[in-house]
Amino acid sequence: MDTLMLDRGVRDADQGLERLYDRVRRVVPPMEWAGFADDIRAIIELKKQRNAVILAHNYQTPEIFHCVSDIVGDSLALAREAQEVDADVIVMAGVHFMAETAKLMNPSKTVLIPDARAGCSLADSITPADVRLLRERFPGVPIVTYVNTSAAVKAESDICCTSGNARKVVESLGVPRVLMIPDEFLARNVAAETDVEILAWHGHCEVHERFTPADIAALRAAHPGVVVLSHPECPPEVVAASDFAGSTARMSEFVAERQPQRVVLITECSMSDNLAVQHPKVEFVRPCNLCPHMKRITLGAIRHALETMSEPVEIDPSVAFAARRSVERMLAV
Ligand code: 13P
Ligand code: SF4
Repeated sequence: MDTLMLDRGVRDADQGLERLYDRVRRVVPPMEWAGFADDIRAIIELKKQRNAVILAHNYQTPEIFHCVSDIVGDSLALAREAQEVDADVIVMAGVHFMAETAKLMNPSKTVLIPDARAGCSLADSITPADVRLLRERFPGVPIVTYVNTSAAVKAESDICCTSGNARKVVESLGVPRVLMIPDEFLARNVAAETDVEILAWHGHCEVHERFTPADIAALRAAHPGVVVLSHPECPPEVVAASDFAGSTARMSEFVAERQPQRVVLITECSMSDNLAVQHPKVEFVRPCNLCPHMKRITLGAIRHALETMSEPVEIDPSVAFAARRSVERMLAV
């Protein structure tokens, strides 16, 4: 009897895995899947044991995004959703600032980052001391801080924004001038859409800063009719050469609603793989710039995080209150 039940359990698990593979078959070759199956099976089991949910950013690889995650989205959606999580444990399949934001929004939960080295060139470009100096230099000018920053930098700020709501946040303040930190290109792209004067910092995303208008011209020449969508962390000349610019969620919505015949996403590579799974009729042209930080998160790292409950994200209580206030102000806009 025991053996029969065990056999049935194994068979059900295998059928479940087969169904998961059906989802990603078009972007994950069978050879690669063979290396993923064991970790996926273990992660599904560990999630039950630990009462854990996995939040995954749109740049996570398809076997994470489509096979083990419970909630997926852009930075804004992940911040909102983190607030609502009821489970005991949140595993952030994303970068460190995203895990910190989840902890800020739901402090009683254990938030795990599967690889604490998963940083961000934007978050690294500015310190709390820099923000204090900016305040001294521009007294009375509100500081709007991109969520791609440490909790300590958020704590020195007036309000946060993401690429999905940056213009709305800036305009909500009702002032003629704001400081927008740390992404120079996001600040310049927002400045092109608003009458509010925007003072920028000099941080860049190491993935998006590499795209050039010449890349867009070459893509259009090689793939006639291609619709070009870019992320607002790209240089303004790249955004100007694109057909549409928006956060990763806005790009997903664009593809879902318009179903372009052929599209290119000027952003991190995995985004196209994830959307290709959902939109089999759309042809994705794929110039590839990988985020090395996002790519530190693997199935193996997630499994290890759940097995060992590492690495828990802790935020200094002296910064948590003020950092949370900046994120909450953004969510209220
Ligand atoms: P989104 O908020 O658009 O998901 O972007 C996050 C990010 O890190 C982009 O590089
Ligand atoms: Fe940071 Fe750029 Fe990676 Fe996003 S893609 S996490 S902004 S380095």
